[in-house]
Amino acid sequence: MSTSPFTYGAAPGALPGLGHLWPLLRRPTEFLAELPAYGDLVEIRLGRSRAYVPCHPELLRRVLADDRTYDKGGAYYDRARAMAGNGVATCPHRDHRRQRRLLQPAFQKGQLAAYAEVMTEEIAALTDSWEPGRVIDAYPVLYGLSLRTLTRTLFGTRVDEAVVDGIRRSFETAFSGFFRQMFMPPALRRAPLPANLRHRRALRRLRDTVERIVASRPRDGADRGDLLSVMLAARDEDGGPGLSDAEVHDQVVTVLAAGTETVAATLTWAAVLLTRHPAEQERLRAECAAVLDGRPARWADVPRLPRAERVIDETVRLYPPGWLFTRVTTAETDLAGRSLAPGATVVVSPAPVHRHPGVYRDALAFDPDRWLPARAAALPRGAFVGFGAGARKCVGDAYGMAECVIALATLVSRWELAAEPGADLRPVPLAAFYRPRRLSLRLTRRTEPGGPASGGRGAASGGRGTTSGGRDD
Ligand code: HEM
Repeated sequence: MSTSPFTYGAAPGALPGLGHLWPLLRRPTEFLAELPAYGDLVEIRLGRSRAYVPCHPELLRRVLADDRTYDKGGAYYDRARAMAGNGVATCPHRDHRRQRRLLQPAFQKGQLAAYAEVMTEEIAALTDSWEPGRVIDAYPVLYGLSLRTLTRTLFGTRVDEAVVDGIRRSFETAFSGFFRQMFMPPALRRAPLPANLRHRRALRRLRDTVERIVASRPRDGADRGDLLSVMLAARDEDGGPGLSDAEVHDQVVTVLAAGTETVAATLTWAAVLLTRHPAEQERLRAECAAVLDGRPARWADVPRLPRAERVIDETVRLYPPGWLFTRVTTAETDLAGRSLAPGATVVVSPAPVHRHPGVYRDALAFDPDRWLPARAAALPRGAFVGFGAGARKCVGDAYGMAECVIALATLVSRWELAAEPGADLRPVPLAAFYRPRRLSLRLTRRTEPGGPASGGRGAASGGRGTTSGGRDD
């Protein structure tokens, strides 16, 4: 008999051949959030294969903390590697420490202040370009924002619009249908089907563009204030040459893949939540108006916008863009009293824990104030894994948070967001990151560009209001 304090169970309803793929891909968050009802560790079927989903914060934390035993691999990372190469996000444990050490300096605080200038310029230009009454399709607009911001911080300030557009088109073709590719039988994936050919062409175009940019950079060790020059200047611990051109290429594609859709999806879900909870939008606007007085948010403002940060944290809790990753066990191991053989697939997903009623009070409610320091401190370890955890935790977490806070604060202080009828908030099926299909936003002017904040309906609260407590779904 197991002496483990954790319970183990199997999810019902697996279909022959498909297993749980149908609910997993059609209503992912709901399906994953239902799993804790069957145990702390729950067995599901991905097609014919068995996979284990940690549904207890402590088990999820253990898996993420032990990146040697639970290595990157399995359906998700095998596919991601085929697309993005062997970069820091996709490489196995044996390559990771070196890659992370070489990449980490590009994301250090000193660098972030410089990148934030680009974030400020881009969100200011975007919010200045709108006229009152305009209706925008939120995700594509915010994706354009995050892609322009990241290409500029990666490659420096002079990036041709045509290059950005080319990267966008390659990504759209190559990475849409990520999960379809992931679960497609290999023979079908190799077949000369039109979708496969388009996918391959898009990947080749992306590779060529990035290779050209990397090759055009002198390797003179100069810091040009962008991510690429820090990557090129990095040296190995033993004085070795650092990343080769091919390795830099893989890091660049990895960072582009990991750092654009995630930010755009977070901002879009934040807009969904703020339009559903107007009182929260008003509280946030009051904080932003008081701090910004009509100008766009800057790096130095980020610590003065705690409510904006809480709204982002709460958005990532409820709608984590990185909704499913896989790990593969490299040795026999015990999890929740269950012996897992080497090669077992473990599914890492925030949803079972982020929406767990035993972990979060009123778990489905949008309540940014649950991230006030005293309340957040009472949460168990492993309760929030929206940016991962352990050695493989998101290297761009501070970058991503700064970008989301700067963009959201600027946006909300200048424009009131209201959802137009006809939103389709079901997740885009089979996309690499979790995002809604369509959210149209009608924009009403709050402040003149660069002008003082309008009084609005609420006075500056310093971000200490209570929540509207509305149910999320
Ligand atoms: C709100 C925005 C973001 C979210 C929610 C997010 C989420 C995540 C998650 C969950 C992981 C861990 C994946 C795993 O354990 O398998 C991760 C890893 C990673 N993220 Fe992010 N991310 C965000 C923004 C960014 C940005 C802006 C960048 C780069 C500019 C970035 C670059 C990376 C990289 C390179 C990794 C791999 C780290 C490693 O394995 O050492 N992310 N991210």
